[in-house]
Amino acid sequence: MKVVIVGSGYVGLVSGACFSALGHSVVCVDSNEQKINLLNSGGVPIFEPGLDELIKTNIEQNRLAFSTDLKTSLRGADFAFIAVGTPTRQGGSEADLTSVYAVASEIALSAEDGLVIVTKSTVPVGTGDAVEAIVRTSRPDLVFAAVSNPEFLKEGSAIDDFMNPDRVVVGCDVPWATEKMKMLYEPLRAADAPIIHTGRSAAEVIKYAANAFLAIKISFINEIADFCEAVSADVSEVANGIGHDKRIGRAFLNPGPGYGGSCFPKDSLALLATAQSHTVSLRVVESSIAANDARKRGIGRRVSSAFGHSVRGKTIAILGLTFKANTDDMREAPSLNIIAALQKMGARVRAYDPEGMEQARHYLQNVEYASDAYNCVEGADGIVIATEWKEFAALDFMRIAAIVSHPVIVDLRNILDVHKVETAGFELHRIGSPRRSETASIQAAPRLLRPKVNGQGEHSSAAHGSIRPVSNSLALQNRYPIKGLA
Ligand code: UDX
Ligand code: UDX
Repeated sequence: MKVVIVGSGYVGLVSGACFSALGHSVVCVDSNEQKINLLNSGGVPIFEPGLDELIKTNIEQNRLAFSTDLKTSLRGADFAFIAVGTPTRQGGSEADLTSVYAVASEIALSAEDGLVIVTKSTVPVGTGDAVEAIVRTSRPDLVFAAVSNPEFLKEGSAIDDFMNPDRVVVGCDVPWATEKMKMLYEPLRAADAPIIHTGRSAAEVIKYAANAFLAIKISFINEIADFCEAVSADVSEVANGIGHDKRIGRAFLNPGPGYGGSCFPKDSLALLATAQSHTVSLRVVESSIAANDARKRGIGRRVSSAFGHSVRGKTIAILGLTFKANTDDMREAPSLNIIAALQKMGARVRAYDPEGMEQARHYLQNVEYASDAYNCVEGADGIVIATEWKEFAALDFMRIAAIVSHPVIVDLRNILDVHKVETAGFELHRIGSPRRSETASIQAAPRLLRPKVNGQGEHSSAAHGSIRPVSNSLALQNRYPIKGLA
């Protein structure tokens, strides 16, 4: 079948490449000529694991092409997917549908009878009705259907999410179009992927409800992490303990600096805006947004507390900039909040990210970019892990201990091996790990164990292992200078 995808971004490009891999003939269209020229010359404008290979293979097999010319691309097309951006409207909280409506109008001009116009972008309930009205007004006699087919692609695993979906949701109220959608997704159905057929509005709600629920789950575990710190419990153990309950599930119970990305923040806000326009209050969604915003606003203070609330003049190395690992996407990344706060407190910031530094330059000022993680931490007064890139957990911390100025690490993703890092002599601050009040730690452990620094500047921690210091350990060390155990 012939598929036209309008909008070759993170979602449109992956969806187009995957549809072509399923055997369909796909044209990915985009108004950004530079992007299309790059794709036609063999380049890929975004980082998504496996995407370059998938695109290359399907271009070679003449199933995938790229164009800026929607009119020509629509000739003989069975489907026209709308996968353009739906960002939060400037100064508001609802989704900006300008591009969606513009593309719908453009599709209408060249659409042929039997075209199924599919909205893949995340759009508020009722947008399918608006798309249908736009096309109907422009082409009263056209035989077409407007369908909702939301995406559930996580950046960094988008191809696998498409090819092995938990489910495909098709929101369609027109039987002949439903049959065409079944043919489109037949290869996935044949591989036992659940294809769920719903009304169009239900499909639009499913997308927002799914993202809002996942965002709530993350805000929940982030608050439980704060609670764990206060009561000296380990949030990783709590997440494991509740996650074994099939009704809860372990996924998306990893605490961190707050969620980012191009979806959770804007989709939660858009759902709230749609609900408010129907005078329905979604207090749980509202609270999760507020909790996440507060977390990201306060994350700089949390980081500075590991340095005695004084980072002025200090060089802080930030490992990880993107909103999550395995992407180059910086949209709403928590690192932006962290760096802005540290710079405001007078810190110098050096940063490294395996994929995100090019995009990061559009968002950040006065940041020194390093060539790799070791280069980033050299001479630093402290290290912050802001994104859960696997390579950071695999670093040689003995080597790092020898090149940093102060052995302090704030792991905002809890990805580092505690024993390995503390054995290398680091003071490690994690999310949701036991933190004891100053007096409690002095009473309970008469001698706070801290790394002994020998003549060569090597760090070695006491034989008995070391306890994770309180989050304001530097203040503690100043007040109770501790000699090593030796
Ligand atoms: C977008 C939406 O933001 C998201 O809500 C939805 O779930 C999936 O589609 P994304 O793919 O990340 O997500 O958007 P983006 O990376 O911004 O790509 C959109 C593309 O559409 C861009 O390449 C842009 O050039 C293109 N576009 C935009 C058009 O081709 N025509 C337009 O009129 C507007
Ligand atoms: C999300 C949805 O997962 C996907 O289904 C939808 O189609 C698009 O939006 P994405 O935003 O790409 O995907 O990434 P995701 O893995 O969901 O992470 C979103 C944010 O939540 C990231 O900032 C991530 O760091 C954070 N997160 C995720 C946590 O803090 N803890 C977790 O346990 C999981």
